[in-house]
Amino acid sequence: GEKIMALWGGRFSDAPTDAVFALSRSVHFDWRLAPYDLRSSLSHLKVLRSSSLLQEGVANEIEQALGELITEVASGKFLPIVSDEDVHSALERGLTEKIGATGGSLRAGRSRNDQVATDLKLFTIEHMLEVASSITHLQTARLAKASEYGDAPAPGFTHMQHAQPILFGHEIAKHAQSFARDLERIQDWLVRTNVSPLGSGALSGSGLSLDPAATAQDLGFSSSSANSIDAVSDRDFVAEALFILSLVGVHLSRIGEEWCLWATTEFGWAQVADAYSTGSSIMPQKKNPDMAELARGKAGRLIGNLTAVLAMLKGLPFAYNRDLQEDKEPLFDSIDTLRLVLPAVTGMVATTTFDRAKMLAAAPLGFSLATEIADFLVRAHVPFAQAHEAAGKCVALCEKDGIELDQLSDQQFKSIHSALTPEIRKVLTVQGAIASRVTVGATGPTAFADQMKLATTNLSRLSKVIAAQRKAFSEMMGA
Ligand code: ARG
Repeated sequence: GEKIMALWGGRFSDAPTDAVFALSRSVHFDWRLAPYDLRSSLSHLKVLRSSSLLQEGVANEIEQALGELITEVASGKFLPIVSDEDVHSALERGLTEKIGATGGSLRAGRSRNDQVATDLKLFTIEHMLEVASSITHLQTARLAKASEYGDAPAPGFTHMQHAQPILFGHEIAKHAQSFARDLERIQDWLVRTNVSPLGSGALSGSGLSLDPAATAQDLGFSSSSANSIDAVSDRDFVAEALFILSLVGVHLSRIGEEWCLWATTEFGWAQVADAYSTGSSIMPQKKNPDMAELARGKAGRLIGNLTAVLAMLKGLPFAYNRDLQEDKEPLFDSIDTLRLVLPAVTGMVATTTFDRAKMLAAAPLGFSLATEIADFLVRAHVPFAQAHEAAGKCVALCEKDGIELDQLSDQQFKSIHSALTPEIRKVLTVQGAIASRVTVGATGPTAFADQMKLATTNLSRLSKVIAAQRKAFSEMMGA
């Protein structure tokens, strides 16, 4: 095969065997770090130049070649070849092909160890912000759907049994809270992640007059690493990102499960739009909610990627070890997975319609107004335990007679508890029950309107923050 160009040939008399090279090689997956590698090379070059470690002419030559590589990598003109081990060696080959041995000067004071940590951080920051932006689109769709059904009563469930009536908008809006937390998680992950490893060298820092604080600033980081050994071995930012992505996946899977359930013939609440459904190759009548199922199913691989990285990190000693090369594929896969799932779920949510009449008819079933009877008695100063007991007796009587709570006679109510006057009928309605829920965060119309207002304000604030961060990042990359 082609002669392998390793970056460490000097002390070796034998080239790696095919098996060694095959196992070592990462360029087929780490090539997507190339733009970040080139960008951080420009920052490193700046420092080598300003500290006069590189003569002006040489620095100019390298800068010119890096600029060309940036364009050629973006257009696909420059690509890795079979003998390239990883993204760093491929790009150094590119540099030396352009300017000869001078291309090797850029490695001064830098190791692949701090380089790969820097590249991967930049990649992760850019893509976590992209995920955040997709989440804001999902949030917009979800809040719009919640307000569309903000006046539609439906049964609320615990244990998947009818519990108490709620507004269906309240049900839809609940997920906006979990994704809002995910957005906040990404923001505080960013604060911890925003530390530059560049300048840490292989593990001990550098004896050359580098300026890690300056490279950090140049790359948009807020500071440079406080410990060079930690800097090259820390992958907390990968593990944390994978956790956040897993949790986003878990949240999407819970949406998926609800959508599947609501689309069943038995429920018959959700009409998933044709564009977000798939058919069956044998059963002509079928319309399946595959997007919801995939949202549910993909959570598995996201969690798998998180556990793969945690298991790889466990017990890893002393700074860089090659095990760390295993951080990339799980991370890339989780990012790519959410890039697929988020837009599909967003579209599915935005285009699903719900059967208001069916939900309204189901709302009082299963004696879901029994709590209203207990609360009615509490307002009449009956101790709650007795109120609960009396309401339970009402349910038992209904079950025996095969009727609903509002079909009990005045006489029957009175015989169960003397405080159960005919006034009870006022609270035995779905609308009455929902309207009575006035506490903060409750399903009552006023509290629901407040919730929606707050969620909308919050979302627009976060959307602006994320847009500004993405803009700053792409400006840094293009600088
Ligand atoms: N491809 C390696 C990785 O992904 C880059 C760092 C290699 N460093 C080394 N000393 N072998 O982790």
